[in-house]
Amino acid sequence: MFLAPITVLFNFVLSLSSSLTYPAIVDVGEIYENERPFQHEIKISNNGRDVIEILSVETTCGCTIAEMEKKELAPGEEVMLNVTIDTVGKRGGMEKKITLKTQEQDYLIKVRGFVRKEVGGHSTGFLQKKIFNEPCASCHSNDEGKMSKTLFAAVCSFCHGPHGSGGTAPALNRLSFLKSVDDNDLYDIIANGREESGMPAFLDSHGGPLSKEQVLSLLPYLRRDEKLLNRLKEKKKPSLNEEKNPRRNHSFPESTPNGL
Ligand code: HEC
Ligand code: HEC
Repeated sequence: MFLAPITVLFNFVLSLSSSLTYPAIVDVGEIYENERPFQHEIKISNNGRDVIEILSVETTCGCTIAEMEKKELAPGEEVMLNVTIDTVGKRGGMEKKITLKTQEQDYLIKVRGFVRKEVGGHSTGFLQKKIFNEPCASCHSNDEGKMSKTLFAAVCSFCHGPHGSGGTAPALNRLSFLKSVDDNDLYDIIANGREESGMPAFLDSHGGPLSKEQVLSLLPYLRRDEKLLNRLKEKKKPSLNEEKNPRRNHSFPESTPNGL
């Protein structure tokens, strides 16, 4: 794999500055969205002269559990970090971060993979609803009384990134996308989800956590920058009438070599 040399390089560099040797990036390749969580073992070793105590092993998402049988590593000792990832709700590129904390420093391990829908498996909609039940719900459907921007931050940004700027799911602040859908389409996507592709159904009558009012409150938020984006796009077009845009000439008296 392309990433293998990178992993080796990181290992080498990190082992110079510390005595804990571990892969900075673990690429697990192609895995499937499945009811059975995905499991993987990662080797950690102490190449130094002193005992290393790992104070805690932390992950950001409850879908990823990382455990070690032993937290005190004698010099030369090796231990396995057992990683379990609940793949429900994931689709496409995945990256989960695990942090090992010691007195001296934190060690970050990134587990990467590509998640596919299992052929002949349960429908995605069935699996995705798990994200709205415990133990996932405490973080993923923490929508109580929230609307608009705060609602988006609480339930959508996990996948679509902060303010919809893109994460494991597509960015939603793209002009081309916003232009291609009207409010009915947007409502439909959020309320009913898109079973095949990994967007969960959010409306309560479809098994999701949100009321109709909450789903509706997201529409103006998603469209918040549409006018601004439109104006920016207009600005980018070369102006035919220089008179209308005099400041442009004043602030850039010299033309740049490539004529911009
Ligand atoms: C302690 C709060 C918490 C719990 C509990 C939790 N998550 Fe998450 N989840 C997060 C955070 C924070 C992120 C964004 C950072 C990241 O990706 O780790 C996230 C991201 C995600 C994503 C989108 C990114 C990706 O991995 O594709 C999915 C899907 C997901 N979680 C599924 C689940 C499932 C399934 C469960 C239950 C088994 C669960 N989560 C439990 C906090 C939580
Ligand atoms: C578990 C991850 C996840 C969560 C949480 C999530 N989405 Fe999505 N969403 C996706 C994925 C994956 C797609 C891509 C579907 C596709 O391409 O058909 C998507 C697609 C969309 C689209 C269509 C984008 C396009 O380019 O066609 C919209 C709109 C959208 N989501 C809005 C939301 C809103 C609003 C929320 C919060 C209420 C939300 N999503 C929460 C995963 C998620």
